[in-house]
Amino acid sequence: MSSKFQQVILSEIFSWFFKSGSNVPAFFILYLYCMKIIIINGPNLNLLGKRENDIYGNESFSDFLEKLQKKYANQEISYFQSNIEGEIIDKIQEVGYKYDGIILNAAAYTHTSIGIADAVRAIKTPVVEVHISNTFSREDFRHKSYISPNAKGVIVGFGLQSYELALQSFLT
Ligand code: DQA
Repeated sequence: MSSKFQQVILSEIFSWFFKSGSNVPAFFILYLYCMKIIIINGPNLNLLGKRENDIYGNESFSDFLEKLQKKYANQEISYFQSNIEGEIIDKIQEVGYKYDGIILNAAAYTHTSIGIADAVRAIKTPVVEVHISNTFSREDFRHKSYISPNAKGVIVGFGLQSYELALQSFLT
C-alpha cells in the first residue's frame, strides 16, 4: 500500500515512536510497510513446467510462486493468469490505481497487443515487463514488444528468476 516516499515518512514515524517508547503494534507497522504487488501472466504460462521445458524449465508457476511468497512473506504478492487478452486488460485496469507494482509477462500478447500496451500506458501503477526466455535470442517476431515503451523496466532471459528480479526492483 505504500510508495517509496510513504515508506520514508513511515520510517521516520516508526523511529519517532521507537524513541518515545510508545507501544505501537508491530503488525500495524508491518502492514504499512507491505507493498502490494501483482504478477500477471499471459497465455500459455499456465503450462509452465509442461511446456517446452528446454526454453521455460521444469518448474510449475504455482510451485515457484509458493516459494516466492514464502521468501517475501512481508510483502503482499498476488497472482493472475489468463489466456484471454481482454481479461488481462480488465485485470490491469482493476489493479492499476490500487497496487504498488505490476509484474507483467504478457507472453505472446507482448508482441501483438496494442490493447494491453494502452492499458499499461493508462494506469498509474508502475509495470515491470518480464520474460522467462531471452526473447532477443529467439525468432524475429519476439524482438518486438508493444509493452516495453510504457514499462518502468524490462527483465528478460533469467528464467523464473526474472520475476524475482522484477519484485526486487520494486522493493529497493
Ligand atoms: C515469453 C516469451 C514470449 O515470446 C512467448 O510467447 C511466451 C513466453 C517468456 O516469458 O519468455 O509465451 O513471454
